[in-house]
Amino acid sequence: MQIVILKDSAEVAAYGANIFIKQLQKKANSVLGLATGSTPVSLYRGLIEACDAKLISFKDVTSFNLDEYLGLKGTHPQSYRYFMNEQLFNHIDIIKAQTYVPPGDAENPLEACVGYEEKIKAAGGIDIQLLGIGRNGHIGFNEPSSGLMSRTRVKTLTKATIEDNARFFRDDEYQPHLSITMGIGTILDAKKVVLLATGENKADAILATVEGPLMAACPASALQLHTDAVLVIDEAAASKLS
Ligand code: F6R
Repeated sequence: MQIVILKDSAEVAAYGANIFIKQLQKKANSVLGLATGSTPVSLYRGLIEACDAKLISFKDVTSFNLDEYLGLKGTHPQSYRYFMNEQLFNHIDIIKAQTYVPPGDAENPLEACVGYEEKIKAAGGIDIQLLGIGRNGHIGFNEPSSGLMSRTRVKTLTKATIEDNARFFRDDEYQPHLSITMGIGTILDAKKVVLLATGENKADAILATVEGPLMAACPASALQLHTDAVLVIDEAAASKLS
């Protein structure tokens, strides 16, 4: 695991965006694994700027998002499909039909999970996977105690994650407690993994991820098994590393 410690969140976003820009310059038809949440927003802005400046194009790219709330349609403002359209897809030259987000409105979620894995495989696997990290060490919606070899499946969110994400929902709005998420095994299959973390509230999760032990209680610690994983973090997130 490679650890890159930078001054602040702006530097983290710029460094992370540059990794993706280089990836697209090397392989225009890359298969990207994407994440939502607050952390990747500035990185996505960097990619939009690079696309505007014609440094990169997304027209041959296929993308797969990590996760989606179960019970929300893609048109719901809190759905991750909506988030991706707003934060990235609507501003770049990607073909929307080549962007995949787990279907939160699937009639048969269990079948949809199997289908999602098949689509990733049919696309040739993920070349580079972007990750954030939860305060409890989750990656995607793989909450603590997730199987380290798990595949895309339905997961119940923990109280901590529901509380962390409540800031995005209005008080009178239904907040799902279930999700569809790529599994840890799915994430580990990506050829390269880039995890971004900023802020002091991520310091414990980063400590557990980097210094271990490898354990289901900290899902991100599974990245210790990956041969090409890079953690791009700011000084605050790195503050508990020895
Ligand atoms: C989002 C996701 C989550 C977030 C994590 C951190 O697709 O998979 O694991 O990356 O909850 O969220 P932020 O970046 O909002 O702190």
